[in-house]
Amino acid sequence: MRSPSTRLRKAVLPVAGLGTRVLPGTKTTPKELLNVVDRPILSYIVEEAREAGIEHIVFVTGRSKGAIEDYFDHQIELEAQLLAKGKTDILDNMNAELATAGEMSFTRQMQPLGLGHAVWCARDIIGHEPFAVLLPDVIVDAAPGALKQLTAAYDELGGNIIGVEAVPAEDTHKYGIVDPLERDGRRIGMRGMVEKPAQGTAPSNLSIAGRYILQPEIFDILQTQPRGAGGEIQLTDAMATLMKTQGFTAVEYEGVTHDCGDKIGLLRANVALALKRPDLGMAARAALTPYFNG
Ligand code: G1P
Repeated sequence: MRSPSTRLRKAVLPVAGLGTRVLPGTKTTPKELLNVVDRPILSYIVEEAREAGIEHIVFVTGRSKGAIEDYFDHQIELEAQLLAKGKTDILDNMNAELATAGEMSFTRQMQPLGLGHAVWCARDIIGHEPFAVLLPDVIVDAAPGALKQLTAAYDELGGNIIGVEAVPAEDTHKYGIVDPLERDGRRIGMRGMVEKPAQGTAPSNLSIAGRYILQPEIFDILQTQPRGAGGEIQLTDAMATLMKTQGFTAVEYEGVTHDCGDKIGLLRANVALALKRPDLGMAARAALTPYFNG
């Protein structure tokens, strides 16, 4: 078992990405604030982090992402109007998401140098302790949430934990891919990993899915990490280096992954999550059925 000093308390959410795959919807709205059903993508991610026991979230933002900071703060006029109209259900629902005092920090990635660089930008706020990374493009529909499933493995094994999911072989070039060793249920030992392998060269079909628990030594590696795939500083490359000195375990979490940075993924998330909602499911099914009959 781990010592108390290695308890996981903090998470990094890299939210500086431009959302080019869903432009022009993201021209003036951060992609993380696009709605899925009736709340922003980011709302699902923050809920997942809090469910896993995360006490402090570090957002790595960029230009035109200011609305993200506002989203978790009071909106005094709106709140007063909802109260005056007696719409307390909506008000309570909205305010349940507010940041608690000191729960959130914001720092900027001033140049789009890649995911590894974005995570490195959070180094001073994280300090010398383990931290989670949640990619905010990806909603994982799971109970318990994906990060909570990873923390269960972390609490037993310590080290570094990476959430993975199987993808079709023809899609492996879009992801970080792990080179797996032995499997114990959903936990998989690893020999290595590679970011966006060329078609036909992937060591497996297990993709790095956007949920990580990492040790702070990753920051020292990221500091001098050369650019990799796509000319960007890649988190996967830094993890591959850290693997030489620290334990890594892949966890194939249970759940459905929705890539909301993509048009069809975002559409699918809306449909799938609306259909599951007790208050909306039947109406959503009735509204959508005609589109699938002919
Ligand atoms: C990033 C990571 C990649 C991971 C993917 C998951 O890539 O670099 O390892 O598999 O997220 O969505 P990106 O989608 O930013 O190109």
